[in-house]
Amino acid sequence: MCGIVGYIGHREAYPIVLEGLKRLEYRGYDSAGIALYDGKNINVSKTKGKVADLQKRLESEMSTAGNVGIGHTRWATHGVPNDVNSHPHYSNSGDLVIIHNGIIENYASIKTELTNRGYTFKSDTDTEVLINLIEDIKIKEKVKLGKAVQIALNQVVGAYAIAVMDKNKPDEIVIARLGSPLAVGVGENEYFIASDASPFIEYTKQAIYLEDEEMAVIRIKKGIKIRKIKDDSLVAPYVQELQLSLEQIEKGGYEHFMLKEIHEQPEAIRDTYRGRLLANEGIIRMAGIDDNIEKFTQADKITIVACGTSWHAGLVAEYIFEDLARIPVEVEYASEFRYRNPVITNKDVVIAISQSGETADTLAAIKLAKQNGAFVFGVCNVVGSSIARETHAGAYTHAGPEIGVASTKAFTTQITVLTLIALKLAKVKGNMSNSDFHHHLQELELIPEKIEKALKADAHIQIVAKQYKDAKNSLYLGRGYNFPVALEGALKLKEISYIHAEGYPAAEMKHGPIALIDEQMPVYVIAVNNPHYGKVVSNIEEIKSRSGKIIGIVTEGDEEVKELADHVIEVPNTLESLTPLLTTIPLQLLSYHIAVMLDRNVDQPRNLAKSVTVE
Ligand code: F6R
Repeated sequence: MCGIVGYIGHREAYPIVLEGLKRLEYRGYDSAGIALYDGKNINVSKTKGKVADLQKRLESEMSTAGNVGIGHTRWATHGVPNDVNSHPHYSNSGDLVIIHNGIIENYASIKTELTNRGYTFKSDTDTEVLINLIEDIKIKEKVKLGKAVQIALNQVVGAYAIAVMDKNKPDEIVIARLGSPLAVGVGENEYFIASDASPFIEYTKQAIYLEDEEMAVIRIKKGIKIRKIKDDSLVAPYVQELQLSLEQIEKGGYEHFMLKEIHEQPEAIRDTYRGRLLANEGIIRMAGIDDNIEKFTQADKITIVACGTSWHAGLVAEYIFEDLARIPVEVEYASEFRYRNPVITNKDVVIAISQSGETADTLAAIKLAKQNGAFVFGVCNVVGSSIARETHAGAYTHAGPEIGVASTKAFTTQITVLTLIALKLAKVKGNMSNSDFHHHLQELELIPEKIEKALKADAHIQIVAKQYKDAKNSLYLGRGYNFPVALEGALKLKEISYIHAEGYPAAEMKHGPIALIDEQMPVYVIAVNNPHYGKVVSNIEEIKSRSGKIIGIVTEGDEEVKELADHVIEVPNTLESLTPLLTTIPLQLLSYHIAVMLDRNVDQPRNLAKSVTVE
C-alpha cells in the first residue's frame, strides 16, 4: 500500500502535494518523492524515509516552483526501501515520470523483453518497468501519452493506481486504477489527485472516484476525460459531494486505525493471496516456497518462532501444517527459544513470523537457528525489514501498513500465508486428494467475502460489549484450531482495554480456571461447527452450571449453543482449518468496542509499541 498525490491547476503544486503526502503517510512511510514541472523540465526529488525527510532534501536540491506535480509515499513491495527504489520513476528518455501504488505481477517478463531491446533500469521496482513499457509503446506506436498508458495497462497483470506526467505535455496528467484507490478532486480549472480525499478536502468537496479498470486524462483547460481501459469507451464523470471531515478521512472515515484495519481484513487477505492462489487452476504459486520445496518436504520438523500475536498465528499454523501437510511442528516464543539450547540441525526448517520484521527476540532466534544450520523462512509484513533480510527466503503478507498497535489484519494475513504454505506442501507431499485440495483453495478464496459477512455483526457485538465492559476478568475458550484464537482474543482485550483476560483450551478449564467462574465472569467460547463441537457444548454446560456468563462464537444457524448461551455471535460456515480467519473477527470487534466504551487509547495503548526492537 502506498499513497499517491497530484495537482494540476493555477496554484503552486508543491505545498499541496507535500501536505497531501503527510496526510497519506499512514498508507506507507518507508520512502517518499515528488516530481514538479518547472516550466521546462520535470524535476524529481526522492528519498528513503518519511515525508519530513523528503521535505528537507527537496527544498535543498531543487526549485519548488510549478503548477503541476505528483508525489508518492511508499510501502515497499518490490525492492527494498532506498532512495533509488523510491517513486517517482523516470522513463529511460527522462521525458515521462510515474508514481504507482500496487503490484505489477508480470513485471519480470516485461523487464526481460525491454532489456533485450536496450532499456536499462536503475531500480528493482516493477514501477520503473511499467513507465518504460509506456514509453516504448508511445515511441513505437507513435501515440499520445493517454493511449500509450492504456495499451500498456492492457498488457500488465496486477493492481495499480498510477499517475503519469510527460515533459512534452506539461498541462496534462494521466491516471488509472485497478484494485488500488484513486480520487480526483475537482476545483475551478484545477484538479487534485489522491489515494483518498484527505489531501484536497480543504480545496474542494467535489470528488470523482475512479472505478477499477478506468483511466483518466486530466488537462487544465480541457478538463477530465474518463475511459474504460479495456474497450476505450468514454465514461461520464460522476462527481460526488464529500461529506467527511478532514480528521475522519485520515482514518478512512473510521474513528480509530484499529477499527479501520479490522474492516480492511477482507481486502488485506485478497492482497495476500493475489497472484499466489489460483483456485480455478488448482495452483498455489509462492516463489519462496517453490524455490526451496525440498527443504520443507525433507525437513525433520518445522519450528515456528515468533512473539505475541504473531506467535498465535504460529499456533494456528501448527494445526494446519500437522493436519494437512503431516510435518511435525513446534511453536516457540522467540524470547525463550533464543536462550535455550534448542535441538536444531541442518535438517530443520525454522519459520519466523513477524509483522514489523524488526522484533529483537525473533531476530535473535533466527540468528541462532542459522548458526545451527537450519533453513530459515520469514513471514513478514514490512518489506525490506531486518527479518526479511536476515532469513534465507520468505513470503510477505502484503497487509499494508498496520498503524493501530493492536495487531488485527497482520494476524489474519499471517494465517493466510501459512495456510497457503501448508496447502502447497500437503499437495506436493501427496497428502491431499485433488478434490480436497481444490475444495480448500476455493474455500480460502471465499474467506474475504465471509469476513465481510462476519463484520456485519458489528452492531450486535456493540450490545454485547456494553454488557461486559465492566468485568474485571474474562475467560476465552476454544479447542483445536480455535484454541490459538482464544489466546488471541484474550490478548486483544488485555492490551487495549486493560481488562485481565485468559485464553485456554476449553477442556483445560476444569483443571484450574473453572474455580474463577461465577456470575460476574464473562466466558467467550468459540463453538463453531467442527468435530469438537459436542465437546465444547459440554464445556459450555459446565460453565452454565456455575452461573458464568456465556458468549458463544458460533456457526451461522447454530441452535444448540444458542439455547445455552447468554449471547451468540454468528460467523459464516467454512472448513475447520479456515475457521480461525472468521472466529477472530468478532473477538477483535468486541475488544475494540469495550476499549472505546472504557475511553482507552485504542490505537496507542499504554506501555506498548508497534515494533519491539529491544528484548
Ligand atoms: C499484539 C501485538 C504484538 C505483536 C508482537 C510481535 O497485538 O501486535 O503482540 O504481535 O509484538 O510483533 P511482530 O509481529 O512485529 O514481530
